[in-house]
Amino acid sequence: FIDGERGILRYRGYPIEQLAEQANYMEVAYLVVHGELPTKAQYDGWTHNIMQHTMVHENMKKVFDGFHYDAHPMPMLISTLAALSNFYPASRNVRDEAVRMLQIYRLLGKVPTLAAMAYRHTKGLPYVMPDNDLSYVGNFMNMLWRMAECRYTPNPTLEKALDVLFILHADHEQNCSTNTMRIVASSESDPYCAAASAAAALYGPLHGGANEAVLKMLRQIGSKDKVAQFIKDVKERKALLMGFGHRVYKNYDPRAAIVKRAADDVLAKLSGPDPLLDIAKQLEEVALGDDYFIERSLYPNVDFYTGVLYKAMGFPTKAFTVLFALGRLPGWIAQWREMMVD
Ligand code: SDX
Repeated sequence: FIDGERGILRYRGYPIEQLAEQANYMEVAYLVVHGELPTKAQYDGWTHNIMQHTMVHENMKKVFDGFHYDAHPMPMLISTLAALSNFYPASRNVRDEAVRMLQIYRLLGKVPTLAAMAYRHTKGLPYVMPDNDLSYVGNFMNMLWRMAECRYTPNPTLEKALDVLFILHADHEQNCSTNTMRIVASSESDPYCAAASAAAALYGPLHGGANEAVLKMLRQIGSKDKVAQFIKDVKERKALLMGFGHRVYKNYDPRAAIVKRAADDVLAKLSGPDPLLDIAKQLEEVALGDDYFIERSLYPNVDFYTGVLYKAMGFPTKAFTVLFALGRLPGWIAQWREMMVD
């Protein structure tokens, strides 16, 4: 539920601030799919079913090998998501709830693996086997960053920050990519092809691609003393202030406030100050005091600060929208299932 005027976001009635503070991503994924937070037994069953589906068919490596080393990870994710459809033809029986639930476990289990394989492919590194004894987010970090060590140990600060970021992206009513998921699946296309289409919609810079575009914008501005000139360019319509504005929020996106705090926390604890964060804060301060933006109800959205945080966590800019897709997957899945049940 979104109240754009008041900047309110709730998942199944729970305020986003409470979930970011007190829940973990797997609980929130269960909440958006099933409508209630899980009991301990439901949570254990849910995470067990998902973590049993983290591996992909070995032939998927051949799909990745076909991409150039400098391929963008989003089209790699889009292609391999659709390719999953070929490994699970029975998934086309979308009217059967048991079949739907099995594809839900497979999608939640395998999409982090595909995302990590895309990352490792661009680095020329061998793929890492899932470690199902780690948390969902910890295993994702394992598949991304494990090198020669026998067992990967996730940094708890990073694991928690990434878990919160995934929670913040989990669902958002009828945004562009969720709408695409519904439209494609409304023809009874299978959920892998529908999710690939949703990811394709997310890739655009006006939607999920904005987090990547924000970092490019901050780098282009280069320093705080260039902010005034950039704001002038925006007002002369020579550029968009990426990470600002929203189809519904005509107030501060509540997710942006939480990301901003998380960015301050991670930078303080791990990577130290980042001039790009200072430029972003200066942009926000100037824009929020300028009539051009106030009249148009332009405020920071979820993408404005996420890029600085992802960069501080060690992700390359090209990977940012893939992280958005991982976070949004439960929302795409929940709304697909809701539509099929309805
Ligand atoms: C996401 O829908 C969702 O829920 C999406 C999302 C989710 O969780 O799924 O929240 C995630 O996609 C967030 C948005 C990320 N995109 C960006 O940050 C890209 C920059 N933002 C703009 O492209 C724009 O704000 C949109 C597309 C997000 C929303 O556009 P709207 O609400 O349709 O507004 P509009 O295009 O009608 O613009 C209204 C006015 C216009 O000025 P006028 O022509 O009336 O004079 O505001 C201006 C626009 O020119 N404007 C901007 C601007 N966004 C709108 N001017 C400068 N910079 C901007 N970013």
